[in-house]
Amino acid sequence: MAGSDTVSVKNLTKSFFDPNGKKAIIFENVTFNLPAGAVLRLSGASGSGKTTFMNVLSALTKPDSGSVFFGGTDVTRLKEGEKDRFRAENIGYIFQTFNLLSPFSVIENVYAPLAFAGRLPQDFKEKALISLQKVGMESFAAQKPYHLSVGQKQRVAIARVLFADPKIILADEPTASLDKNSSELVKNTLLKLNKNGTTLVLTSHDPIFDDIRPDIDFNLETGALS
Ligand SMILES: Nc1ncnc2c1ncn2[C@@H]1O[C@H](COP(=O)(O)OP(=O)(O)O)[C@@H](O)[C@H]1O
Ligand SMILES: [Mg+2]
Repeated sequence: MAGSDTVSVKNLTKSFFDPNGKKAIIFENVTFNLPAGAVLRLSGASGSGKTTFMNVLSALTKPDSGSVFFGGTDVTRLKEGEKDRFRAENIGYIFQTFNLLSPFSVIENVYAPLAFAGRLPQDFKEKALISLQKVGMESFAAQKPYHLSVGQKQRVAIARVLFADPKIILADEPTASLDKNSSELVKNTLLKLNKNGTTLVLTSHDPIFDDIRPDIDFNLETGALS
């Protein structure tokens, strides 16, 4: 269906109550259309709301008001049980903190999200190994995440996204704790996916991403869209 991968944000508002009970508006009345395959950069200082915005996009956090449409579906209205499935089918979220599941092995971490959503493909173990190969982590498949360095954990998180082949990737400071080589690998992997049509939402202060030209820049600090 044409245009069904476009993300459409309408009048989106989110506030939190600070520890003193005072309402803090994180973003207000945000409206834009992100075409399929585009790049959205979220900018602004630490604490300005970039992660919160990603969490609302991916239905992890409910906004105060407004909508986020993926195709025809307003994800802010999904029922609890529908959200995991929606995420597994549409979104690859590379968290600042990787969110690997510590009781599971590396390869189980790669296919766990689709397993939870009941969407494992045929030959999923072979496919998960291929995803690990792409980030040079296949020899760690049977290990538990706590054996891994920070850079290796992030590479597993990338393999998990490659395996799921989502329509949109949310990458939240994906190179924040990585060395130069791992950062290059993460960047090149994200760019390659975007080139092949995956929509990319990126938050990063890393100058390594400075040459990426976003289609939309949303500055959470000033509220400016450009
Ligand atoms: N669950 C929450 N409850 C209350 N305040 C929150 C919550 N999550 C984030 N905040 C606040 O919202 C603001 C934006 O946070 P965040 O989205 O993490 O910013 P960034 O990712 O840009 O550093 C911060 O002031 C943070 O303390
Ligand atoms: Mg953040």
